[in-house]
Amino acid sequence: MFPDLARDDVFRLETRRLWLRWPEAADAPVLAALAGDWEVARLTAHIPHPYGVDDAQAFVRDSREGNAAGRHLRLVMTRKTGDRAPIGMIALEPGAQKFELGYWLGRAFWRQGFAAEAAGAMIDACFLVTRAPALTAAALEEHTASQAVLRRVGFAPVGEAPAPGRHAGAKALLFALDRESWARAA
Ligand SMILES: CC(C)(COP(=O)(O)OP(=O)(O)OC[C@H]1O[C@@H](n2cnc3c(N)ncnc32)[C@H](O)[C@@H]1OP(=O)(O)O)[C@@H](O)C(=O)NCCC(=O)NCCS
Repeated sequence: MFPDLARDDVFRLETRRLWLRWPEAADAPVLAALAGDWEVARLTAHIPHPYGVDDAQAFVRDSREGNAAGRHLRLVMTRKTGDRAPIGMIALEPGAQKFELGYWLGRAFWRQGFAAEAAGAMIDACFLVTRAPALTAAALEEHTASQAVLRRVGFAPVGEAPAPGRHAGAKALLFALDRESWARAA
């Protein structure tokens, strides 16, 4: 899955305004406060609600174990200026041969282009350090903000499917970005 390069917590990605780094235990209270906001959780498939510090601590532990094993790559987004506290999360989770991109931002950080900025760096990292032929992503049919993020970073719509998790029964739009399209756009 992910090579040694990404399996140590010195691994980080830099964008114009952000660092993307491994989550750490000290992040749990901020992650709980941001992801505990129903407006953040409700459009995601899997963030539990309510979401407390214990949940965030367990998530950080699981994220670090999976990062260390190369099973997934889950990174905290922080701004490069100020206190460098988490403002959201971005992750690549394994699918069949492909990785699925997911992300969320605390509400105070919406509408500033941070999700696309982080997603661009994760996509580059994924194609550079793994052999994945393609990335996938999904967003609820009505979730135009997330669809806009995906299109901006090069994903194309590829179909639809029943939404997973809390949205079971609703329609999700599926997106994909293959290695060739990524390389052409680079
Ligand atoms: C979805 C999310 C990641 C978008 O990130 P973002 O950094 O705010 O996105 P951007 O600033 O790049 O905005 C993307 C587009 O959506 C629009 N948009 C952003 N937030 C919006 C909102 N709350 N309502 C309507 N449109 C919105 C922007 O105007 C922009 O449109 P444009 O491409 O036409 O300019 C963020 O809103 C979020 O974390 N939401 C909660 C968790 C979530 O939904 N995660 C994704 C699950 S699929």
